[in-house]
Amino acid sequence: MNPKSARESIAVTTKVVLPHETNTLGKLFGGALLAWMDEIAAVSAHRHCKQVAVTASVNNVSFNNPIELGDIVTLEAKVSRAFRTSMEVIIDVSIEDRVTGIRRQSNQAIYTFVAINKEGKTLEIPELIPETDEEKRRFDSALRRRQLSLILAGKMKPSEATELKSLFDV
Ligand SMILES: CC(C)(COP(=O)(O)OP(=O)(O)OC[C@H]1O[C@@H](n2cnc3c(N)ncnc32)[C@H](O)[C@@H]1OP(=O)(O)O)[C@@H](O)C(=O)NCCC(=O)NCCS
Repeated sequence: MNPKSARESIAVTTKVVLPHETNTLGKLFGGALLAWMDEIAAVSAHRHCKQVAVTASVNNVSFNNPIELGDIVTLEAKVSRAFRTSMEVIIDVSIEDRVTGIRRQSNQAIYTFVAINKEGKTLEIPELIPETDEEKRRFDSALRRRQLSLILAGKMKPSEATELKSLFDV
């Protein structure tokens, strides 16, 4: 399988926050944002592996800023690292200023997807090559996040998490 660049997995969508997606204070429901992020991340994962990819875990979500009714929200998803059958996808969320058009980063999430076939069997995926400085940084740190996620899911013993342990080695 030929390696792919992170760039090839980019998926972008833009949404407008509508009344049925907000609470009584006019702020977007966290669950609505999670669903948007899951959908665009699945597209990104698909672009990397060209297979159906399912959400295996939501590793980190930060709702740093509220998103208001009427806001124009852009979500950009990109695969940060591919492992054997799983891949990490980072979703950056930004809000567009309605006067200046300038976008500011509002939220971020990190999901893990796994490629599967119709029978639910996991499938090997292409290696991912990071190119930019940010892609290289995210690629390197993805291994730590994978180990943490697997420990929390009860799928890895803390003693096996070599990358995490190395953080504490002096
Ligand atoms: C995700 C799923 C395919 C994993 O199947 P599995 O039998 O546990 O497969 P494995 O244990 O071999 O794991 C497959 C890969 O996922 C990774 N993985 C599994 N759980 C993970 C987690 N919580 N965090 C990070 N990676 C995880 C494994 O490390 C492995 O990666 P690798 O092959 O790249 O090394 C399976 O649990 C599933 O189908 N879940 C439902 C998915 C779904 O429907 N999502 C939508 C929710 S409604």
